[in-house]
Amino acid sequence: MRIGIPKEVLNGERRVAATPDTVKKMIKMGFEVSVEAGAGGLANYPDQMFIDAGASITSDADSLWSSSDLICKINPPQARSDGSHEADSLSDRGTLISLLFPEQNPELVEHLQSGSKTAIALDKIPRITRAQKMDVLSSMANIAGYRAVLEAAHLYGGFFGGQITAAGKTRPAQVLVIGAGVAGLAAIGTARGLGAEVRAFDVRPACKEQVESMGARFLMLDVPMDESQESSGGYANIMSDEFLKAELECFADQAKEVDIIITTALIPGRKAPELILQDMIDSMKPGSVIIDLAAEQGGNCTATVPGEVVVSSGVHVVGYTDLTSRLPTHASQFFGTNIVNLLADMGGAGDFKVDFEDEVVRKSTVVRQGTLTWPPPPDPEKPPVTSQGKGDSEVVADLPQPKKNSGHGHGASNEPMAIGPRNVIALTLAVVLALIGFTAESAPVPHFVQQVTVFLLACFIGWQVVWSVTPALHTPLMSVTNAISGIIVVGGLLGVAGTEVNTAAVLGAVAILVASINIAGGFLVTQRMLQMFRKEGN
Ligand code: NAI
Repeated sequence: MRIGIPKEVLNGERRVAATPDTVKKMIKMGFEVSVEAGAGGLANYPDQMFIDAGASITSDADSLWSSSDLICKINPPQARSDGSHEADSLSDRGTLISLLFPEQNPELVEHLQSGSKTAIALDKIPRITRAQKMDVLSSMANIAGYRAVLEAAHLYGGFFGGQITAAGKTRPAQVLVIGAGVAGLAAIGTARGLGAEVRAFDVRPACKEQVESMGARFLMLDVPMDESQESSGGYANIMSDEFLKAELECFADQAKEVDIIITTALIPGRKAPELILQDMIDSMKPGSVIIDLAAEQGGNCTATVPGEVVVSSGVHVVGYTDLTSRLPTHASQFFGTNIVNLLADMGGAGDFKVDFEDEVVRKSTVVRQGTLTWPPPPDPEKPPVTSQGKGDSEVVADLPQPKKNSGHGHGASNEPMAIGPRNVIALTLAVVLALIGFTAESAPVPHFVQQVTVFLLACFIGWQVVWSVTPALHTPLMSVTNAISGIIVVGGLLGVAGTEVNTAAVLGAVAILVASINIAGGFLVTQRMLQMFRKEGN
């Protein structure tokens, strides 16, 4: 089975869909690989490197397309400078694997529905854990977030990290990142790495922990964050008007303080929300920089011009849509690796098939053997729920919400505890034990019954307390509660008190030993966990 890697015809594109390294992997999977001459030149992969990796080089683009069973490329097929269209060159039984953006390119999708052609849209690979290794949007967004900070650093007239020198001192650059998805988190990491102070906002509360773990401050709005929602696949849903208003007020305040704004806010399939308005730009310090990653989808900033840098009120507004292409060597490597992983998922050369039982393949297949198969049917197991408090057009199909933490309840879930049969039994048992405890005086061995009752009640309460805590927090919680073993030490000391060596004294001594190990171990584990979250220099 032959794979063809054409040279990208999109103006300014420097990436290529395969690198010598990924070609080797394709060949190992049993494919033959043919690369168009010069395809990797701008990404620093000369033809000779592809030949050394085992590929053949073809100079004629049209014959490369028509003689290949599979065409792997980056951008959606488009018209060439000679007037011919790439999609027409795909062989009648050929399969195309590339970005397609079927919503934006209905004509192209129609074009591909001929003969027995198959087209797989890499942009439609679902954001599920299993598909992460094939998700080109994530791998490219990661690169874009990194590059966005470098572009900002290039245009900004100051240091990112604070400086203390004989010539004076400067404070760290203040960076605001809007949208803490893949690109946003990469931007936060890069800006922090350069020494900037970073604050970030996202409508998905699930991002708060991620933002903070990267050393940035998460901005909170006055409206309840639980209004924000997360759809399946880790993307955001649409916000209400009230929420957007509060968000804009927050950004208006922030604009006066920060030096750099990096915006990545987007809801897939929608125009990017306008979040940085002209009055906010006017209020920024001259020399500030805005990098608008959502430029291609209309931009998050009013002044953005896609593909260009404009200066408005002394502020550079960058609307580059080719940030990944500005890092072509690694972007090609990541893109190529994502494709190799998809090919492996589809069975490799020996068993290659467009298997609709595979969720990843089903959701990304736009045309199968000439028949339109997009959009895929909705997930059956997730019935749509109408969200509340939305504006007119803002009512959207809602999928499972992230688990919310109270923020001040030490990780305790703020969902009301369900009164299931297990809880009813436990509660009844607790009441019975309490009654036995109160009436123990009249029992044949009153002291023993009282002790057993207290012990069982303590077990019950302890179990209920730990049960309500988010599982992720069990280890730190347990390490601290272990430290409470100090109480056991006190009990043990009372047991060994006196001169007599009896069973109680021996048990007391054992209790002291075990509880002491618990205390020391508890503090050690807590210390280690805290160190894991602490960044150097913080
Ligand atoms: P993503 O979906 O992972 O992240 C977008 C984030 O925006 C989500 O976390 C979402 O919750 C948040 N968001 C949505 N509405 C918001 C609002 N009103 N306020 C605050 N946050 C909001 O997307 P990803 O992959 O990180 O991409 C981000 C953007 O970068 C996209 O627009 C993508 O097209 C663009 N991109 C641009 C490139 C370029 O060269 N300019 C290259 C690659 C990606």
